[in-house]
Parts: sequence; structure tokens; C-alpha cells
Amino acid sequence: MTSKEAEAKSPYLWTRASPYDNWVDSTGLPVYDGHFIPDARTIKVARWDERECDAAFIRLAGQEGYTESRITELRPGAQSAEVKLAFDEAIYVLDGQGMTTLRSPDGKTSRSFEWQKHSLFLVPRYAIHQFKNMLGQKPARLLHFNYLPLSMAGNPDPVFHFQNPFEDPAALADPDLYSAAKVSANDEFLPGVGCWYGNFFADMRAWDKLDPNKGRGAGGSSVFIRFPKSPLWAHMSVFPPRTYKKAHRHGPGVVIVIPGGEGFSVMWREGEEKIFIPWQEGSVFVPPDNWFHQHFNLTGGPARYLALHSPYHFNMSAETVKDPAKDQIEYSDEDPVIRQRFESELAKRGMTSLVPPQAYTTPGYEWKYA
Ligand SMILES: [Fe+2]
Repeated sequence: MTSKEAEAKSPYLWTRASPYDNWVDSTGLPVYDGHFIPDARTIKVARWDERECDAAFIRLAGQEGYTESRITELRPGAQSAEVKLAFDEAIYVLDGQGMTTLRSPDGKTSRSFEWQKHSLFLVPRYAIHQFKNMLGQKPARLLHFNYLPLSMAGNPDPVFHFQNPFEDPAALADPDLYSAAKVSANDEFLPGVGCWYGNFFADMRAWDKLDPNKGRGAGGSSVFIRFPKSPLWAHMSVFPPRTYKKAHRHGPGVVIVIPGGEGFSVMWREGEEKIFIPWQEGSVFVPPDNWFHQHFNLTGGPARYLALHSPYHFNMSAETVKDPAKDQIEYSDEDPVIRQRFESELAKRGMTSLVPPQAYTTPGYEWKYA
């Protein structure tokens, strides 16, 4: 059999496009690529009849076939079609106010909860679910995040992922499914920075339970989020006005969305040109595999970014910096262009840097925390 004949017989395995890419293309919906989306609240979406909503895919270079991000827009007062997915999905509310309803196939068990702008929640695999916009005058916009590209790499059949008859009634019946998140120690990951377990977080912009993340500089604080029984997880960092964090690098697939603040990030592959990404509320960007990235706050108030992570057991895509000497850059070692760019961007806004001069002369300099 020639390779062409083999391809005709086995289109999933013998084409360069991944099964996930083929499926995305088959929907005919807009696909946004490149390295960043300036404002995911305003990018154009198109009708997705099957899901009874408007939608678009955000398929940025750094997702690298690990993770999916997608926008759903619900028109005023509208609700989406009922959907059952064979994978977990984390959802961040970019705008609007609404309700999610989940039910078992026989309808005997159901759950519903309301969400608002900046909420973060998980819809567990196999739950039949539906989203409703509760405002009559304004659309609602959701950012969905999952590991469908990885799942489809293993099983390319869309029916398996979207019409899977498998049921998990215990998951939906769990009384704690959407109860208040609980904090636990985080020794496995980053000791001293709390890890919150839960499937519903009402407002990530207002979330203030963070702990000092001293290793990454800027006087920043972080929180880790684990969705119980899901491989998906997240973390959020908040850092003070007129500062910037240390550059670091790790694996692909981490989708970053900005709940609040204004600034920019720099991303680069070692030895190559730097890409500057301006951000504000609603911006989305993804650092590619093993590219350094670094975040800068250009306002007089704190800035925050929420990072949605690919499955936990893919250690290479964790946020962990395994070798600080190789994978994190101290202020004292950084390319001078970094500081120059930060200070010139601040100057345009009539501000000056609050990074202490000692940070540039003392390797491992640690900010003082109150
Ligand atoms: Fe990172």
C-alpha cells in the first residue's frame, strides 16, 4: 500500500493536522491564532447551531496540541444547547451573568448555580450541562478551557468525546460538588503558597486569599487551585504596582487570562527575538514550550493574571521551575532591554519603577513582605 492509499484509509493518523485541528476546522467557526488575543471579550464570534450559541476558538501557538480554549457567547436571555463532554472543562466568565445547570441522563439528579463576570468553575466530564444568560439586555461571554486536543490525539473519534454514553452518577450526586473551596497545604508543589480545592470560585478579580510567592520576585503573591477529581488546575498571581516579575520558562499549554490590571508580558525562546504582549482585562496569551516569559505591571494598582493549566500529571507543563539556574532569570542577570522597556513604558504613563535598585545588584534578592 502506498502512503497515499494508507492516508485515504486512515485519515486521522496519516495527515499532518491533528484530529483536534480537523474537528475545529469542521465546525467552520472563527479560529484565532498567533501568540495573544488583546481582548477576548470583543473578538468576533459566529453562530454554532449545534451548540445554540455563538463561538470562536482561541488556538494560540503555545497551546501546542495540549489544551483547548474557546469562547462561547450567549445572546441576551438565551441558553445554549445541552451538551455532554467526555472531558472536564474549566470555565472563566469574561463578561455577563448567568446560570449553569447540570443533570443526570434520567433527570433525577440535577444541580444548578449562578455565575457572574470573573467567576471560575468546573463542569465535570459526563455531566449533561447547559448555560443560560440571565440578563435580558446584554450578552454573556465564557472562556472554556480543557485538554480535548490531548484526548483526541489518543482517540480521534469526535463521537467518543461529544456523544459518549458513559455515565458517572456519583459525580453529580456528590453534595460537595460545588460547595465552598477549601484550602490545603501545597507541599507537593510550592510550600507556603496555599492550594484551594473546589469547583466554583465566585470572583477571581476580587479573590484575596493569596500567599507570598517569594521565588518569582516583584513582591508578588499567588494562589493555586485544584479542581477535585479533575486533572485540570489553575493558579493566579497578583503583583504590586510599577513592578515586574522574574522571567521563567516551563512546558506548553498554560492559557493566561487577565482578570484585572494593565501591563505587558515578554515571551522569547532563548537566544531569539522577544515578543512584547500588551495586556488589560480580557487579554489572553500562552507562553510556548520552554519560552521564557515575564510579566510587567504598568499601573498604580495591583495587576493579576489567571493561568489555566493542562493536566496535572504532565509534569513538563507544570509551572514548576525545575532548575532555577537555567529556567529562571534573576534581575541581576537579565538583558538590560527588559528594564529599559519597563521604565520607558512607565514613563509614557508619568510613572517610575518601584523595583528596588538592589534587585539588580543582588542575585536572589527577596522583596520584603508586610
Ligand atoms: Fe509561567
